[in-house]
Amino acid sequence: MGMAALALLFTSCEKDQPENATDLAQESVDMSDFYVHTDFNDEDSKAAEHGKNCYSMKNLNRLLKEDDKLYRKMYDIEKNTRSILAKQGNTAKGKPGSGDGGGTTPPPTDNLGVVSIPVIVNVVYSNSNENISQAQIDSQMAVLNADFRAQNSDAGSTPSEFAGLVADTEVQFTLADVRRYSNSTTQWGTNDAVKAQYPPFSPETHLNIWVCNIGSGILGYAQFPGGPAATDGVVVGPNYFGNTGYVSAPFDEGRTMTHEVGHYLNLRHIWGDGRCQQDDFVADTPSSDGPNYGCPSFPTVNCRSTDMTMNYMDYTNDSCMFMFSEGQKSRLRTVFASSGPRAAMAP
Ligand code: ARG
Ligand code: ZN
Ligand code: CA
Repeated sequence: MGMAALALLFTSCEKDQPENATDLAQESVDMSDFYVHTDFNDEDSKAAEHGKNCYSMKNLNRLLKEDDKLYRKMYDIEKNTRSILAKQGNTAKGKPGSGDGGGTTPPPTDNLGVVSIPVIVNVVYSNSNENISQAQIDSQMAVLNADFRAQNSDAGSTPSEFAGLVADTEVQFTLADVRRYSNSTTQWGTNDAVKAQYPPFSPETHLNIWVCNIGSGILGYAQFPGGPAATDGVVVGPNYFGNTGYVSAPFDEGRTMTHEVGHYLNLRHIWGDGRCQQDDFVADTPSSDGPNYGCPSFPTVNCRSTDMTMNYMDYTNDSCMFMFSEGQKSRLRTVFASSGPRAAMAP
């Protein structure tokens, strides 16, 4: 059965017999479109043309090669996410390419309330610039909290086409500890070497961040839910962390962390790391055929719909991204469900 038909079926069932619809939804989760392969080395992709891929996907490709059980783990996480969303009266994805903004669907609810994640910041520096100030760390915490709670001052810049979709994810962050390490390594790469050197503190309950120079102009990379605990967390360059101190424009507003923490909570890039048919598994983010860069004018149309270029999970400049959508909120919050991969972080 096609997803559109399936979605229709759920919608119509739900109106008449909510309980039956719930049971049916759980049993018949459609996983036919699931993928974890990425277009990192795909010559056909817009991202590859730009030579500026997200290194979270590159890192994921490596982890998938190293561990043949990871694919199954991520499949199960996705299936659980879809099952939870279906129970809430939502399907995980919309009609591909329809450009349906989905603003008519009420946001699904869970009973978790505000989720507060304690954060460990590991500062690994080879010079005094990289040994960023407490003020810079505090600025990043403030940006994360503003962005995830839709308290960011630029939230109001969202065009009316998408304004109704701006979400307060009800996830917030508290700084639990800052750990500083001097190391002569000047470029850490994306192979988790920094995590092997400085292992995470209690990754089941804490978001671990390593602030260190990655090299090659790479801003940051995250590990998706389901990956090894020993490497769980986010790595980010010191000059892309926070919005004050040692920061470099146009990535000087702390949005790299907002984007990476989105991945850490299981959000995909809004273009689904593929062309129009490939989805990010979120219904209210319109289909797109590749990343947008810089500061796109509005509307930017791809796949016969307006791209949500101002979404944190696109590749635009920090000053041109300012929202998560309601669908992304619903999706990311399923990781905190009792059956979810980050249940230990739930209140
Ligand atoms: N992982 C992406 C990269 O390294 C991060 C993109 C973040 N975008 C931003 N505007 N800060 O390229
Ligand atoms: Zn990314
Ligand atoms: Ca979408």
